[in-house]
Amino acid sequence: MNQSVTKENADMSAQLDKAQKSIDRLFATRNDRWYPQCHIASKAGWINDPNGLSYYKGRYHAYFQLNPYGSEWGNMHWGHVSSADLVTWRREPLAMAPTLEVEKDGVFSGSAVVGDDGRLTIYYTGHRWRNGVNDDDGNLQEQCMAVSSDGIHFEKKGVVIPCPDDKILHFRDPKVWKMGGLWYMVFGVSTPAQRGEIWMYTSNDMEHWTFDRVIYRHPDPEVFMLECPDMFPLEDKWVICYSAMGLKPHGFEARNHNNAGYVIGSWQPGGDFHQETEFHLWDDGHNFYAPQTFQAPDGRRLVFGWMSPFTEPIPMQEDGWCGQFTVPREVSLAGDHLRCLPVREFSDLDQDRQDFGSIELEVNGSQDLVDDAQTADITMEIDLAKSQAERIGLEIHRTQSGDHTLVCYDDQLGRVVLDRHCNTYGDRGYRTAPVDKSSGKLKLRIIVDRGSIEVVVNDGLEIMSSYSFPAQGPRGIRLIAESGEGKALIDSLAIARLGTIWEEPDR
Ligand code: FRU
Repeated sequence: MNQSVTKENADMSAQLDKAQKSIDRLFATRNDRWYPQCHIASKAGWINDPNGLSYYKGRYHAYFQLNPYGSEWGNMHWGHVSSADLVTWRREPLAMAPTLEVEKDGVFSGSAVVGDDGRLTIYYTGHRWRNGVNDDDGNLQEQCMAVSSDGIHFEKKGVVIPCPDDKILHFRDPKVWKMGGLWYMVFGVSTPAQRGEIWMYTSNDMEHWTFDRVIYRHPDPEVFMLECPDMFPLEDKWVICYSAMGLKPHGFEARNHNNAGYVIGSWQPGGDFHQETEFHLWDDGHNFYAPQTFQAPDGRRLVFGWMSPFTEPIPMQEDGWCGQFTVPREVSLAGDHLRCLPVREFSDLDQDRQDFGSIELEVNGSQDLVDDAQTADITMEIDLAKSQAERIGLEIHRTQSGDHTLVCYDDQLGRVVLDRHCNTYGDRGYRTAPVDKSSGKLKLRIIVDRGSIEVVVNDGLEIMSSYSFPAQGPRGIRLIAESGEGKALIDSLAIARLGTIWEEPDR
């Protein structure tokens, strides 16, 4: 344990003050046109991965990778929000700033557990650029530890797992849990041969860690790093998930710059992981990465993802902020897949639900449903068996300019499509999700925020998260049916407005 961290802990509060002032400065000119109402985001600045997700002393804690000094990635700190109920969130003081030599270039991602001494203990990666300026020559990364008695103020304990080989270029993102009296840690490694692996360590006392094994190695030699790995039990199975760097697109799959997914299998402490399913993406949208799971006090396995703006242009960067989480989702097993559903608490934000009942739409017909929705929680069921239209769905964020994002069922593809080709702002393109048509019905739930859309397909069998930046003016929602031999039959359709998640409005 590094004993020289006392001074750095004192320095941290000065660094955090400085960072908070920068956030406040950026906030003063924040443009709210796309700033989320019902998703976690920093008050200003850039965020990426969810970190340290936990339940401690009666509150849920969500920390996140934060650049307080601008709306681009860099200067990694940990930001922090907390909630008593997963519905209403409170902004907390920034949690961690880089102060130690080993984290000179950033306090990178990590996880939190309630330690044997009752303190919230976080494990994270101290990061330095090998060449002092950028990624070109790789990174110097070590797993570090910090503790807190209130979840708000952290005391750094220094490095607990140094990098064992200087030819390793990536070595980061520890995820920790306890089982049968022993602590387990997994994190991502890019080996000297540039293979993406997940390493497992164990510890009796939370401070001294021993290498156990390579618990997972990606089969594709092009996948050179597995960021933000997670490993957790679900019923009688174990899930290993990771965010893969180097995975190539194939068909509808893995079309984002980097892609987050999982495999399901079995594992016993002290043994190897036996994979039993193929790799599946967590989310079929444009913007989802670095998810982290944790266990709620009632036993539910919950996940937050980062809606990663991978592809330029990223227009929210001009607005003084960048990046938001997905809504919190409950994860459960559905055969060889994971089902991901917005947590039931999320519906508490629903207001003024408008019920449109069943709708029969002529081919090439449309119906305006809402004139101006900043936020919306939409539920609809389409009768696929009785509809003949080729595409049936909703134009969301529809402005007078004709801009919109289309969320529809596409009968040619037999898939749900989220299509941004009519957007003036941001990256365009479409993503699709498979549909199980065996029931003859398709259930969609669509969560709309000021700059994002999440589509939940058939009760969470698939889910898609994408940014969608509407143009100026009121933001309508329009039902459409396109081409084909006949009508579109909607069994039910309802739209609620979503209230804010913030305990105190920013302004
Ligand atoms: C994933 C990631 C992590 C790293 C963090 C740095 O998005 O690259 O591997 O710890 O972001 O911000």
